[in-house]
Amino acid sequence: MNIEQISVRVSAVEQVAPTIREFTLRPLSGELPPFSSGSHVVVEMPGAQKIHRNAYSLMSDPWDTSEYRIAVRLQEDSRGGSRFMHQSVAVGDRLNITPPANMFAPQWEAKKHILIAGGVGITPFLSYLPELMRRDADFELHYLYRGSQTGAYRKELAAELGARYFAYDSDAAERCELTELFQQRPLGTHFYICGPLSLIEGMTGLAAEFGIPASAIHYEEFAAPQPGKPFEIEIRHSGQVIRVGEEESMLEALEAAQINVPNLCRGGVCGQCVCSVESGEVDHRDNFLSAEEKASGRVVMPCVSRAKSERLIVDIQE
Ligand code: FES
Repeated sequence: MNIEQISVRVSAVEQVAPTIREFTLRPLSGELPPFSSGSHVVVEMPGAQKIHRNAYSLMSDPWDTSEYRIAVRLQEDSRGGSRFMHQSVAVGDRLNITPPANMFAPQWEAKKHILIAGGVGITPFLSYLPELMRRDADFELHYLYRGSQTGAYRKELAAELGARYFAYDSDAAERCELTELFQQRPLGTHFYICGPLSLIEGMTGLAAEFGIPASAIHYEEFAAPQPGKPFEIEIRHSGQVIRVGEEESMLEALEAAQINVPNLCRGGVCGQCVCSVESGEVDHRDNFLSAEEKASGRVVMPCVSRAKSERLIVDIQE
């Protein structure tokens, strides 16, 4: 499946924190597709060696489709995507993006919404806030960041949200007492977490201890594919063998070989890219498959996962 691309022009670039840049994207003509709070797009970034594709949350008001805004944190161990956005993208450039998809939508039936952002994980919540306020919803935002690196938009958020805003700068030794968030929750509260894996695992673990149902905990973490030792993929029905390099994901290697695999998040959370495994040992790195599915070794999420064996034989129907 090929997802149709949208061409956009970069109309503004702004450094909003020491490691975070904001990009405003405008359509070449007309309006952009509508989207809902929590949506993301995948941005295509043509590098010298290969095309990078990373998912970024839309931060704009969903009622405004004249432009999209995204923010990108420069990753120290960038495989090229965030470095490309920071070093090579300027006002006036054209970029290709996918239409918006949403895997992190607010649960509007919730009695109260508690939003917990870590660093650049603030971005999806910026598209929640206008809608929460229009609906006069009961919510609060807890923002954890390192002032020397992240913490974008904190002044604006403090001014706009007032008593509904709580900020914790770890550089100033400010701590968010997560247990208090769970203890003081009214019945029917939903929790939304976006940030590093350590924050998500800490929150979901605590939530389980407090007996909070999994259906009331929502999180988003686009795990960028991590490098690993090279291996081969063999396509079962054609016998074609594709080499996956140290720095590329399985999905990227398949795409470079003109084999299209459905994908939405490219970060191991949406489940779109699942492929059947005929043989070989999978190194599972996604947040989508259950423990049982991972243990079965019969499926793989090629956007982030790799192989422990020299070769994986997979079944991909093109
Ligand atoms: S593209 Fe979403 S899990 Fe792979």
